[in-house]
Parts: sequence; C-alpha cells; structure tokens
Amino acid sequence: MFDLSLENCRVDRDLTVNIGVDDGKIVQISRERIDASEKIDLKGYFVLPGLIDAHVHFRDPGLEYKEDFRTGSMAAAHGGFSTVLDMPNTVPPADNAAEFERKIRIGERKSVVDFGLHAGFRSVSDVKGILRFMPASFKVFMDLTGISAVDGLFRELKDLSAPVPVTVHCENRDVVMESMKELKDRSDPSAYALARPPLAEEVSVAEVLALSIHHEHPVHICHLSTVKALQLVEPFREYVTCEVTPHHLLLDSGAFRRFGTMVKTNPPLRPPESRVYPEFLDRINIIGTDHAPHGIEEKRKGIWDAPPGIPNLEVVLKLLLTLVSKGRMSLSTIRRMLAEEPARIFGLRSKGRIAEGMDADFTVIDPKETGRIRSDEFYSKAHYTPFEGFSYTGAPVMTVVRGRTVMRDGEVLEGNGRYIPAEHDGKPGTAESEAELS
Ligand code: NCD
Ligand code: ZN
Repeated sequence: MFDLSLENCRVDRDLTVNIGVDDGKIVQISRERIDASEKIDLKGYFVLPGLIDAHVHFRDPGLEYKEDFRTGSMAAAHGGFSTVLDMPNTVPPADNAAEFERKIRIGERKSVVDFGLHAGFRSVSDVKGILRFMPASFKVFMDLTGISAVDGLFRELKDLSAPVPVTVHCENRDVVMESMKELKDRSDPSAYALARPPLAEEVSVAEVLALSIHHEHPVHICHLSTVKALQLVEPFREYVTCEVTPHHLLLDSGAFRRFGTMVKTNPPLRPPESRVYPEFLDRINIIGTDHAPHGIEEKRKGIWDAPPGIPNLEVVLKLLLTLVSKGRMSLSTIRRMLAEEPARIFGLRSKGRIAEGMDADFTVIDPKETGRIRSDEFYSKAHYTPFEGFSYTGAPVMTVVRGRTVMRDGEVLEGNGRYIPAEHDGKPGTAESEAELS
C-alpha cells in the first residue's frame, strides 16, 4: 500500500488519472484505483507538475526585513510553486563556497518548498569551490560587471569541464551610465524607462551571445524585455535560453504614470512598441517571476533612490490562468514554461514532469475560480503589487511538494523544503518539439 493516492487528477484536457505516491515519489499513474493510506480526491481539477520559479530573490541572509526564506517560500507555495531557484545577491552575496553552503543551510531550515541556488560570481578562484555544491547556474549582472570578468568565468567553467549555465542580467553598463547622465535632473518616474533604454539590453544580449558562441557554453538570459533582444537570441538557441517576467509581459512604461516607483524594476518596463507580449511566448523558454521584494517605504524614496524590483510569486499564476481563460495562451504553455523547461535548463532532474520515478510535486488548478488580486493576502513581506484589484479567472488551489501538501485552498501549511542540487547535461538547446504537448 502506498502513502498517498491523488484521485481524479486531470493531467491533460482529455486524460484523468489517479496518481500513487510513495516516499515522496510518483510510483504509479493509472486509471485504476490505487490502494493508499491517504486519499485526496481532486475532483477533476487540472494537475500540473509542481511549478518551478527559476528567478526569486529571498533576501536571506542579510536583508530579511524585505523577505526571508520562510516568508518567500510561503509566498511560493501560496502562488502554486513547489520549487524555487534563489538569486545570489543576498548580503553577503552567495559568491563563494562558504556563503553558498550557508545559504543551503538557511533554506533547509526555513523553506516550505524545495529550492536550488544560483551562485554569484566574484572571482574565478571561487568557482571550483562552489561547483561542489552543484549550483543551478552562475549569475552575472552586466549592469555591474565588465565583459572581461565574465569572459574569465566562461574560461574557468570550460577549464573545469563544468556545463553549468551562466545566467545573465543583460543591461550594458556603459549605455546605462551615458543615458542616466542626461536624465539626472528629472524626478518623474517615467524618466526611469529612458535611463535604462532598450539599447542597453540589446547591446548586452549581443555581447553575451558572442561569449556564449565563442566558448560554446550555455547561457540563460534573464527577464528579456524587448522584441529586438528576442530577435537577437533566436538564431542561437543551441546555446542560449531566455526568460520573461509577468510584468514585462503584461505592463508597459505607461504603468509609471499610475503606479510610480512601485513599478521601478530592472530592466525597466518598456514602451508598447519595444516590449514583449503574451503572443511571443512560443519563442521564449521560461517565465521567471523575478520576485524582488522591498520595503514599501523604500519603494517610495523617489525615482533614483527607490530600489528596483516587483514581488510576483503570489500573482503570476492567477495572471497567466486569466490569459488562458481568454484564449491568449494555453495551459500547456504554463506547463512548459514554468515546469518542464526550468527543470531541464537548470538540471533539476527529479522535477518538472508527472512521470513514475519523479518527485511527487504538483500544482492543482481550479480554472474557474474567480476573484480579485489582494496584496493583503500575500505571505510575502512585500504587501503591494501593480496587479492589485485585478480580476482573475483561474487559481492554484493546492501545492504539493514530494507528496506533502504545503498549500490548500489558499492556506499555506508546514513544509520541509530541501536543497535540490543541479545536474547539468550541457545541452541547453530547445527541447523536443512543441507538437508533443497538447
Ligand atoms: C533585483 C533585486 O531587487 O534584487 N531587482 C530588479 O529590479 N530586478 C536586482 C536586479 O536584478 O537588478
Ligand atoms: Zn532578479
């Protein structure tokens, strides 16, 4: 007898199955009844592989007043995510073996959901030590780092025969500095979109593409936000994957007028003619939330001093399911961009698919639930969102991590999140054809 049977799981439009779980793994998928000590009837709700957010900032250690691993991971569970990959720009940064290991311990103590970690990059001498802990990637911020330092990272990874991807925030430092000069005297929030223009991103993407092709090494471009940056990436899918955020998909620079510095983020929201749209999703690998919480008082500091970033974990799935309800995207695109592809790109081999032998991670969806987004219901410490009051159709109703229910009907329960070491195969290129997905 198994530990758990999830009954009447609609895993595809025309396929409803029972899923047997034992010891945190999927052990049987069947139309027959499965004998188990606990049974949960999912009544034909849609069941997706547990969703993975490959881009979160949990601020732990060092900036726990903004978020910590417990509240961030509760926000993840609430939003329907069973796994997150945390970014290294904590304080001190996770850019050496000791700090990287410390963050694993923090997460294992506090996290409700499973997690992996992106490593920071300070010096090539730290790379080998970090590799022992199997990071999801090495993250570099091109708005803060020179290209030759990043070239050094590629060389070191090559010397060590490590197929770990380099994950990149693409905004060229020189273009940003030049553009800022002319705008320093302005204080209207919309100046921010001009201070870090599309060109900064496009130049940076081109530089990083050159490094990736030169070294034949996988690169993942974070929060791609302009249509021209996307055009640049497209011929190089063999080495390069890319990501888009919910705010770049759904908002444009006009949002500054309504929300002011709350929507200040890097890269900035783009004008309608240069931005990305949900209709482009087939050309993009993953949706990452870039959940970047800050204190609301800090966010009000004015356009140049307010920290950049928007909290997204608890809104993204409702926003996307609403697009599904309107026929602007499909549920299989959510499955691809928030489960299969992040698992594949970041080497999470036990995650991302519902199949025997995989971790029993599930996101259960009620496509008909309606309501309005309310930031006072967030588990995140950041209680604000530009999507406040947005009327949604479709919501996560349950999150399961290795057989354990960590969210049910909007309430987050106790969890036991584990660190998931990444096992990379060095093949970032686009996965099997879309045709396989219904
Ligand atoms: C990030 C953060 O707050 O950590 N903010 C953001 O606007 N995306 C840092 C960064 O990516 O610059
Ligand atoms: Zn980020």
